[in-house]
Amino acid sequence: MDVPGFALITGAASGIGKACALAFAAEGSAGITLLDLNESALATVKSEIEALAKPCQILTYAVNVTHEADVTRAVTSAAQIFGRLDYIVNAAGIAIKHAGGAAFATTSDWNRVLDINLNGTFYVLRAAAKIMLDQTPLLSSIDSRPLQRGSIINFSSIQGVAGITLSTAYTTAKHAVIGLTRTASEDYAARGLRVNAICPGYTETPMTMGNPDVLRAMQERVAGAVPMGRMGMPREIADGVLFLAGGRSSFVTGSCLMVDGGYTSR
Ligand SMILES: NC(=O)c1ccc[n+]([C@@H]2O[C@H](COP(=O)([O-])OP(=O)(O)OC[C@H]3O[C@@H](n4cnc5c(N)ncnc54)[C@H](O)[C@@H]3O)[C@@H](O)[C@H]2O)c1
Repeated sequence: MDVPGFALITGAASGIGKACALAFAAEGSAGITLLDLNESALATVKSEIEALAKPCQILTYAVNVTHEADVTRAVTSAAQIFGRLDYIVNAAGIAIKHAGGAAFATTSDWNRVLDINLNGTFYVLRAAAKIMLDQTPLLSSIDSRPLQRGSIINFSSIQGVAGITLSTAYTTAKHAVIGLTRTASEDYAARGLRVNAICPGYTETPMTMGNPDVLRAMQERVAGAVPMGRMGMPREIADGVLFLAGGRSSFVTGSCLMVDGGYTSR
């Protein structure tokens, strides 16, 4: 996938973010910064990467993405230690269902979901873009094309392009992440900084598998609504992220990659 540089991944302690961290390491990245709220789970991911056949330099930051000063400090520190920052994966996120729908959604649920999924993504993107714009372009490890100053991948969802019931705040946040992606990609396309979104469909992670009731409802929905008839695996989403991060997507910016088993094609 041509990802020889340095990555920073939020939400790296679990699910898709963790799968991305393992995938960057397996594909030969020079270093990976793991950022998440969950400090002990970050340490576990770090050890798993260090046990791989191709270990790479790992930094961990226990940071809440909604705390903008902490985010800026962590991103700046990682860039200073590594010397540059090539790939940002904005995977930190939460999902909340509102019983009864929009009419009964609480302001605190609304604010929490928007704060983590949208504001957190913006804080990381802003801190990283400032650094990336001053970098010399990274050369492709495959054919030495001057590829990019940086590549930012924001996590949207199938709910970034479609409404799903009882998900007012989450669907709003994921639509907004696509807007953020498109406008930032316009800002920097000519300067070699690419910004794309990934839109996973139903994927087997702690977010979806943690609650048996939620899981049962989701499995029924998947059987009827997903053409491939199954949920995705975190590694399948990570493959899309690696494509958007590295040299295989050097002419791709402002796009939304659907990795959803065909859900949004219907
Ligand atoms: N699993 C799915 O079906 C699915 C579908 C579409 C999109 N997504 C998106 O993919 C991304 C990853 O989801 P996942 O399924 O791996 O979830 P997950 O719950 O397994 O992992 C999310 C990680 O984000 C971290 N996190 C949450 N709030 C944070 C905060 N304020 N600051 C820092 N870290 C925080 C958590 O600690 C956790 O490690 C999310 O943005 C999610 O919305 C998931």
